Amino acid sequence: MNIVLTAVAAGLVATTGCINDPDSPGLEYMPDMYRSPAIEAYVDYGQDPYQVGEETARAQRMVQSARKPVAGTIRFNPSEIDFIMPYAYANTVEGYEAAGMNLKSPLSRIGQAELEEGKEIYTLMCTQCHGEGGKGDGALSRNGHIQGIPSYSDKLKDLPEGKMYHTLTYGKGLMGSHASQLSQKDRWLVIEYIKVLQNGGDMPEFDDNGNVVKPADTDSEDAMAMNN
Ligand code: HEC
Repeated sequence: MNIVLTAVAAGLVATTGCINDPDSPGLEYMPDMYRSPAIEAYVDYGQDPYQVGEETARAQRMVQSARKPVAGTIRFNPSEIDFIMPYAYANTVEGYEAAGMNLKSPLSRIGQAELEEGKEIYTLMCTQCHGEGGKGDGALSRNGHIQGIPSYSDKLKDLPEGKMYHTLTYGKGLMGSHASQLSQKDRWLVIEYIKVLQNGGDMPEFDDNGNVVKPADTDSEDAMAMNN
């Protein structure tokens, strides 16, 4: 009896265990576990190859399922209208000068939250070159990798915000463009903090609502401007 069973089992293994096609994965049960879907954007994964056959599924995988936006399309959200328009100034000396004259920050509020956000961006992305206090003495300056970084409170004291934005967008000299790392709003926020550094680096005083308090002992125009 045992011999018969062994012979039957051996026969089964012999007839089903080998498959001629060397590339065949053999019998697959629970195929989902063998083949997890590799998801890529814009590709249609709708059909299961086990339902429609590998050829149909493969052809379908080559087809884009979602439409790409039309060239020149701008992401639109009315509340962000000031921060989504294309940059209007060319990457030229004239464009730089024009931005310095005409480009103004669209931030509608500059208070504690905005300045602290600007400071955070500055600390994360700019201190390695410009230094914490903006004197041009960050680590990459001290170790000699990037030379000639100007100080905000000295050479760049009167640099207008439009030129700062232009430089952040296109880069200048050894400073690369930051347009891909910083959204338009982030660029304006960090510029607000650079203005603090231009004026010595002390944050202004804030009231309970996070609005800038005009210092009592000065009638500085900058403090007025910050309150607007
Ligand atoms: C790799 C080093 C490096 C990093 C990082 C860097 N900068 Fe600069 N930055 C420079 C150098 C060098 C200059 C001087 C460019 C010139 O005038 O040739 C400069 C100049 C500037 C200026 C003056 C631009 C002008 O129009 O004269 C501003 C404003 C500025 N940086 C802001 C920033 C801010 C904000 C960040 C962070 C988001 C930043 N930088 C990150 C190296 C850097």
